[in-house]
Amino acid sequence: MARVTLSVIKADVGGFVGHSGVHEELLTKARDTLAQKGKDLLIDFFVTHVGDDIELIMTHQRGVDDTGIHRLAWDTFVECTGVAKKLKLYGAGQDLLADTFSGNVKGMGPGVAEMEFEERPSEPVVIFMADKTEPGAWNFPLYKMFADPFNTAGLVIDPKMHLGFDFEVHDLIQHKKVIFHCPEEIYDLLVFIGAPGRYCVKAVYSRTLGGEICACSTTQRLNLMAGRYVGKDDPVLIVRAQSGMPAVGEVLEPFAHPHLVAGWMRGSHYGPLMPSAMDDSCPTRFDGPPRVVALGFQLAGGKLVGPQDFFKDRAFDEARRLANQIADYMRSLGPFEPHRLPLDELEYTTMPDVMKKLKDRFMPLE
Ligand code: F6R
Ligand code: MG
Ligand code: MG
Repeated sequence: MARVTLSVIKADVGGFVGHSGVHEELLTKARDTLAQKGKDLLIDFFVTHVGDDIELIMTHQRGVDDTGIHRLAWDTFVECTGVAKKLKLYGAGQDLLADTFSGNVKGMGPGVAEMEFEERPSEPVVIFMADKTEPGAWNFPLYKMFADPFNTAGLVIDPKMHLGFDFEVHDLIQHKKVIFHCPEEIYDLLVFIGAPGRYCVKAVYSRTLGGEICACSTTQRLNLMAGRYVGKDDPVLIVRAQSGMPAVGEVLEPFAHPHLVAGWMRGSHYGPLMPSAMDDSCPTRFDGPPRVVALGFQLAGGKLVGPQDFFKDRAFDEARRLANQIADYMRSLGPFEPHRLPLDELEYTTMPDVMKKLKDRFMPLE
């Protein structure tokens, strides 16, 4: 098998109802469009949704950043937007930030995670898709999967993992990247990725398997608009598993303990990332709590054999219960931090207007 590319491209082009889900007609339109327009480009595809985001999971042999594949995804989202407009769905076309396609969907609204690799004799992959949160949400689970021996037994006892992994971290504000060699640089790594609103793990590479790519996430630039950084996106993460990479169970294990992520209501609140089955992925309570779905596939000559809906497993029931308890607690704080995000990270704010109104009432402190 020659090299295969796995591309996951996602966008919110209209919510059903509000920002909670995707209407079935949009999913049908996406499948039909990929089947027709993608027949000479794709090996295989799978379309699903998490919350209000449509997820196009595609395999092909054209490499990453391919114009044909990106145009196909763009055209698919444009077609879906047509349906969303007809049904008057909420925010129809919201993630298509331009009128015409310019060669690559990056920076045009949709989120992209892609990796190209030589398909192994058996190639298990896990695709994580989240709603109501931001790309930095993957920092904590990626650290656990690839650097924490309390999560991943293989780091200690598998000779093919013992050398560790390299983490590629992006600074979303300065648009720079840096590679950390782990385990020896985990303390340096954590200085950065412990601040997930700015530093995101973009990719992870195996040090044993000749730098082979093991994981890759959607990250996008944050745009400075009106004095604030915006562009939080509902992110995707692709992880390859087994045979020198973390076992499927080690890949899923970090989600057994829900961590707090930024997003939720109005992209402006911290809440627990709740693992959910595919059919259970529509965030409702306070537009949340943030969701993550994990689908497993075996690749066979680029064909997507699957999916296995991992978080359907009852082993994640306790994580959901804990997430609900954390959600209750965080909600009890209402408009106070640390439920609400700090002022400079709010996606919505009235601060400039309120400040303007009150500016004459602020007196110097003696
Ligand atoms: C969060 C999200 C929703 C909306 C909220 C208000 O990422 O999408 O929580 O922010 O429903 O939406 P608008 O401003 O469209 O009424
Ligand atoms: Mg939405
Ligand atoms: Mg969304």
